[in-house]
Amino acid sequence: MSTSVGGDVRDIALSERGKDRIEWAAKEMPVLRLIRERFASDLPLKGVRMSGCLHITTETANLAITLKAGGADLVLCASNPLSTQDDVAAALVSEYGIPTFAIKGEDEQTYYRHINAALDHKPNMTMDDGCDLVSTLHTTRTELITNIIAGLEETTTGVIRLHSMEKAGVLKFPVLAVNESDTKHMFDNRYGTGQSSIDAIIRSTNILLAGRTVVVFGYGWCGRGVASRAHGLGSNVIVTEVDPTRALEAVMDGYRVMPGVEAAALGDIFITVTGDINVIDRPLLERMKDGAIIANSGHFNDEINIPALESMATNKRRVRDFVDEYTYADGRRVHLLAEGRLVNLSAAEGHPASVMDMSFANQALGSEYMLLHAKELQPHVYTLPSDIDKEIARLKLHAMGIKIDTLTPEQDTYLNSWESGT
Ligand SMILES: NC(=O)c1ccc[n+]([C@@H]2O[C@H](COP(=O)([O-])OP(=O)(O)OC[C@H]3O[C@@H](n4cnc5c(N)ncnc54)[C@H](O)[C@@H]3O)[C@@H](O)[C@H]2O)c1
Repeated sequence: MSTSVGGDVRDIALSERGKDRIEWAAKEMPVLRLIRERFASDLPLKGVRMSGCLHITTETANLAITLKAGGADLVLCASNPLSTQDDVAAALVSEYGIPTFAIKGEDEQTYYRHINAALDHKPNMTMDDGCDLVSTLHTTRTELITNIIAGLEETTTGVIRLHSMEKAGVLKFPVLAVNESDTKHMFDNRYGTGQSSIDAIIRSTNILLAGRTVVVFGYGWCGRGVASRAHGLGSNVIVTEVDPTRALEAVMDGYRVMPGVEAAALGDIFITVTGDINVIDRPLLERMKDGAIIANSGHFNDEINIPALESMATNKRRVRDFVDEYTYADGRRVHLLAEGRLVNLSAAEGHPASVMDMSFANQALGSEYMLLHAKELQPHVYTLPSDIDKEIARLKLHAMGIKIDTLTPEQDTYLNSWESGT
């Protein structure tokens, strides 16, 4: 039986479809299932008030169900105006009793109203994807900070913001940088963003990638994934970087590397994954070919200078879902996907559940860890201890039916000694 517990969603009638899809994702999340089973008997989060600002997807729903099973009193809001899956938001409210404030396509005012609604819950713990809850707490809702035991942060951009808060001496409570776990960034950022960004470009445009020139901006964890998946589909990949080591890595991985302004004239498809601002700026926009497609998969929608694009265009029209065509005075057309918001979550479904299984295992075990260690933690940015990280990898391998070797006592001694040489 459905019960309504509040929140703000597009249409509660979508909940049945949302529930089916949440259950579908659950099948691909065996590690989180194991954690949920333990949480349901141990109740490590009992009575903890949590506010989560996350992409409202089927995978996030499974995380929320796990946290609730562990005893958390949880509310959710969206971490991006375009990433919400409305059927999932409806199901969270009516099928799982988790108040959710999220509507796909909400304007900025509604987005922040929803963040504030999640904070009205007076959380003891925050869970962010991009640091919007933490930054709102530290600016306009400072009265709530005394309630907070700890926070958790999912993504690279959020961790960068937290480090700058810590450096400026303004961070008021400990936060776990979930992104820094190996079982998060090595898989979610690389394979998840790699596959789902290409998936979103194909879903929204239906173009053939084989034989096209794809320019990937940034060769970090996400960029490596996007480049390798585009290459796998037969694209000629160009990488741009500002970091010499990463640029060198891209060269040795077999890609062409050059300044963005040179790549601009060559590319058919452009994808930004830098976490930086105005990476595709006016000089690049001016050089693009007729028919160019531009997408962003970095956290914020400021990697492409959209105001510049708007001012350069003489005409703008929506030609397909998530595709805006900008026409220049000379007749060239440039296509911006998903309004420059992270394309994989806006124009597709985000990362496949199998990879979010590990990211969200980190979130669930991380929230337990932060509570257990609350007394000794300072207002700093922490990472999850590597034994928990390794345990998540071990559980994932086990779920995949893959066995690995273990060190013999002789090897263990050898690897921990300095005496043996040639
Ligand atoms: N779409 C998603 O689902 C998703 C998933 C994970 C992370 N992210 C986001 O993607 C972004 C990248 O994350 P990451 O983990 O790959 O970060 P990262 O730090 O590993 O990589 C970013 C790379 O961009 C490069 N860079 C910075 N400015 C640049 C510029 N002007 N031109 C070219 N290269 C530049 C950096 O040198 C770095 O190598 C972040 O905003 C992160 O939050 C999105």
